[in-house]
Parts: sequence; structure tokens; C-alpha cells
Amino acid sequence: MTHTHAALAPNAVIGIVGGGQLGRMSAVAASRLGFKTHILTQDAHGPAAQVSSSVTLGAYDDPAALDAFAKAVDVVTFEFENISADALDRLSKYCPVRPSGHILRISQDRLAEKTFLASSGVPLAPWCAVTDRTTLHEAAQKLGLPLILKTTRNGYDGKGQRRVYTEAELDAAFEELAPHPLVAEGMVDFACELSVMVVRGTDGTTRCFDTVLNHHWHGILDLTLAPAPIADATAHEAGRLAALIAEKFDLVGIMGVEMFLVRDGSLMVNEVAPRPHNSGHWTMDACAQDQFDMHIRAVAGLPLPPAQRHSDAVMKNLVGPEDMALWPAILANPGHIPHLYGKKEARPGRKMGHVNILFPYGSLPGEWGIQAALGPLATKCAAPPATDQD
Ligand SMILES: Nc1ncnc2c1ncn2[C@@H]1O[C@H](COP(=O)(O)OP(=O)(O)O)[C@@H](O)[C@H]1O
Ligand SMILES: [Mg+2]
Repeated sequence: MTHTHAALAPNAVIGIVGGGQLGRMSAVAASRLGFKTHILTQDAHGPAAQVSSSVTLGAYDDPAALDAFAKAVDVVTFEFENISADALDRLSKYCPVRPSGHILRISQDRLAEKTFLASSGVPLAPWCAVTDRTTLHEAAQKLGLPLILKTTRNGYDGKGQRRVYTEAELDAAFEELAPHPLVAEGMVDFACELSVMVVRGTDGTTRCFDTVLNHHWHGILDLTLAPAPIADATAHEAGRLAALIAEKFDLVGIMGVEMFLVRDGSLMVNEVAPRPHNSGHWTMDACAQDQFDMHIRAVAGLPLPPAQRHSDAVMKNLVGPEDMALWPAILANPGHIPHLYGKKEARPGRKMGHVNILFPYGSLPGEWGIQAALGPLATKCAAPPATDQD
């Protein structure tokens, strides 16, 4: 391997595995920093390919496509987690892969992830591995009901999960989810969901964006409030946990860390994603250097400035045809900063874009002020957290 920690020079080529919106926004950030991007994707006209200098069309497990892609780039990163870690290892024979395959190998498997995080001293919701009916019923005994069963791989936006409320539902939920083993988690009665975007450079510099609060709607992120309206000590502890995880992983690049704020004020980490994350999109307008800039800087071996927010912000996802019907109203509202991903078809549940709304630093309004600022988009806003407000 010819890995070097030297920074990439302007006009170097950053290879991005995956052709979706996270790749698109990473490619735009890369272009601002003077880099070219090259996408490995099967969709020649997808969101990332539309804004990149070159594309290798091919499957993520096709050795010929992987080799051709790696030979054409100076560094590789990925924008989604369903490439195999073996494929990343193959790419790493040609150039650095950041974040490295060992992180993906852990984070794409919920069991490996929980085992790793627990051994790193990170607090988690109570969990058990479920391999068969015996361990399933043992899990219900240990965790109590209700519980959540999750597949270990390929889950996203709440897919690959079943909530189990009664003993009688256990077996059916187990059979519905595949492949086995599964993870069983105790249902956390959380006050709210938080996340932190943490980025770490080749020199070990670690930066955290502010802790934010996320509202989901039918398993899909709906709204992010930045900063989270929670006690300073809690927000700080969330950042400490994210930085700890980044260091334990020896991360280079950005990672989203999802957490639950439990009603007693404690934090539990839910899952991590070693890539830019939907709950970091607010940084695109509320920070001088957003999550994509910071990710590209880390991947390219450039210095990482502090991840500072200059404004408070609300990020609203635009999902499916319902939200896209509001596009003319969004464009007519000068306070709505629109971002569209260039997807051809607005299918139900599909993330089409997002809107950021800025507020002067320190003046994020409460629920009704946010509803008012959202205007026609204020349809799905859930109640704010019941506790831990300062
Ligand atoms: N143990 C849990 N207790 C309560 N709610 C949970 C638990 N695990 C997941 N959830 C809810 O389901 C959502 C999706 O679960 P998550 O594990 O983050 O999967 P995904 O990969 O689909 O994002 C979470 O954001 C949270 O709202
Ligand atoms: Mg999640």
C-alpha cells in the first residue's frame, strides 16, 4: 500500500462510491475546494453523477468496475453504507479509503456496532443478539416488552424493524425479518432524539458540529433543530460521546452519531453512520464550513477548522410528491433556503430535497415560532421534548 498523509493538491480527484444526494452535496463541496470528483454508481444520471466530472458505471461488487474506478482517483470515500467492506479493501490497494473499511465493517452490522460501542464505554439502549426462537424469548425476558427487533444490516429510515408489544407477536416478528441473526432492543422511552456530526482529520484533529434535535415522521427524518433546545451540559456530553467514538474508530472523515435523550437526562447512542448525514444538512447554510466541506477536507488531508455555527437553523426534509407539491410555495418564500437533489421521480417516502431556515445565533424559536417559519411546510411538526429544556 502506498498510503500517504500528504494533503491532496488542487485538481486532485476524489472518488465517491454511491450516486445519491450525499454524494452530490459532497461533490459540490469538493468542487468549491478545487477538487474533481469521480462517482462509482449504476445510475449515469443520478444526483451525484449530474454534478461530477466523471463516472464509472458499475455494480459495487464488480471487481472490474472497482479497479477501473480506483485507478482513476486519488482518494476514495463513500456516501452510503451498503458497499461491502471487502470492496473497500480492494479499493484501498490503489489509494487511501477514508473512512477506512474497518469502520464500515463494524458500522454496517448492528451487532458488531453495538459490541464495539459497548466496549468503547459508550452507553447504549439495552440489547441482545437474537439467533433463534430460544434467544428471542430470552431477549424478551431480559429486555421486557415492548421491544424492537431489527435486522443487523441494510436497515434505513426505519425499514427492517418490527416493534413487538406482546409475547404472542414475538415469533411472527422474528420470522418476518431476515436474514437472521437479529438485534433485539429494549424500547427506550426517550424525551427526544439527538445527533452529532463529528469529523476527524488525518492528523487526528476532531471537530463536532453542535448537537441537534431530530423529529422523525414514519421512520424518516422530518425536521432538525440546530442547536437542540436542551441543557448545555447534555449537548456537551453528546459531543463528547461523538468525539470519543470517532477516536475509538480512528475515523478519517465525517460520521453521524444518533442518540436518544432519555427522560432522566442520560444519553444512549442509537447508531452511527460513517458518512455525511441527513441530520447535518442544516450546516449547509448555518455554518461557514458545512458537513460536506469538512468531510472533503478530512478525506483530502486538509486542515479542519472549528465546526462553528453562525446562525441557528431548522432543516425540513422534502419527502415524496406531497412535499414536492409545495415547491412553488417554497421558492416564493424568501426565508426558505431550498436544496433539491435532482431526482427524476418524487416517489412516496423518497427524499427529494430539503429546506433550511435560519435564525440569528441564539434565537431559535419555540415550537409555534418554528411552525410559523415553516409556513406551508408545517404539517408534520411533532411536539418538542417534554423534559430537559433549559
Ligand atoms: N430502542 C429504541 N427505542 C425507541 N425507539 C427506537 C429504538 N430504536 C429505534 N427507535 C426509533 O426508530 C428510528 C429508526 O431506528 P434506527 O435504529 O435509527 O434505524 P434506521 O437505520 O432505520 O435509522 C429511530 O430514529 C427511533 O425513532
Ligand atoms: Mg437511524
